[in-house]
Amino acid sequence: MVRDGRTVLSNVIASQIDIHAEYGGVVPEIASRKHLESVSVVVEQALSDAGVEVGALDGIAVTQGPGLAGALLVGISAAKGLSLGRGLPLIGVNHIEGHLLAVFLETPVAFPFIALAVSGGHSHLYRVDGVGRYTTLGQTVDDAAGEAFDKVAKLIGLPYPGGVAIDRLAATGDPRAIKFPRPLLNDGSYNFSFSGLKTAVLTHVNKFPESKGAGVNDLAASFQAAVCEVLTKKTAAAVAATGIKRLVVAGGVACNSALRSHMARFAAEQGVELSIPSPGLCSDNAAMIAVPGDFYLEAGINSGFDLDALPVWPLDRLASRLKEAF
Ligand code: KG4
Ligand code: ZN
Repeated sequence: MVRDGRTVLSNVIASQIDIHAEYGGVVPEIASRKHLESVSVVVEQALSDAGVEVGALDGIAVTQGPGLAGALLVGISAAKGLSLGRGLPLIGVNHIEGHLLAVFLETPVAFPFIALAVSGGHSHLYRVDGVGRYTTLGQTVDDAAGEAFDKVAKLIGLPYPGGVAIDRLAATGDPRAIKFPRPLLNDGSYNFSFSGLKTAVLTHVNKFPESKGAGVNDLAASFQAAVCEVLTKKTAAAVAATGIKRLVVAGGVACNSALRSHMARFAAEQGVELSIPSPGLCSDNAAMIAVPGDFYLEAGINSGFDLDALPVWPLDRLASRLKEAF
């Protein structure tokens, strides 16, 4: 629950990680069932943590996409029920827009800014000219950064989700121990590719099985360094080309300690104003959805009851919503 799109009153997270970890990744059918079991409990908890009655709400923002259709539909149905029952305006929000604007819950950032969104499903560079005004500069052509972390973790026997585990192992490893490739580093685009890097780790592990054992810290640190270097250098190129010296890094992978320090070093060297939310606001959370939600509702933009899940929803397509309103 968020006040004025800026102040977090409560931010309840019902994690399914333990359940999906048994299967080594998210099982869509289980995800929707668990959403169904949790959604009312989470709403009740959010109200009680915030000490707010449903009647005091001004509106409801719900994730409309992108994501797994079944899980999205559970949230959308619950939000519609609450909206209809209480006569509250409803707004469908893009999950990635929530990630990009989560930072406003801690620090306001002036527009325009460059944003790197790195999560389990996204590795995108955007130019952000305002709420709802996003231009994609580049994106992954295959795996997302988080997906690469999770897949590499799996192949070296670490539990799902692997990003946190790799981050922890890498803390005591040598990032220069193994020279993994830096895919697309100098191709002149702002695109990323991480699937070849994952194959390079697999090839290395097959050749040197001990790198999965005693050498695992060096392996984790070297892989992480390759990902962070590519993410940071491409972001730096976007900052240089646009001349926009404000940068936001967002999404679950923005929790990564090496990425945070790579970005901090680059920002300090280039005089770039860097904003990265606290880890709890980088990983998926409900509060971040309320930031654009508040903006749209305040602007009188809301969704009708024909609001439907959009499993695929590129951010660039948001602009039409604003054009319709102003
Ligand atoms: O944004 P998010 O919570 O969910 C999605 O929208 O996908 O991101 C989840 C991703 C997972 O791939 C997870 O392994 C990764 O973020 N992640 C990390 C770290 N913490 C979470 N990756 C690297 N280092 C971390 N510390
Ligand atoms: Zn996310």
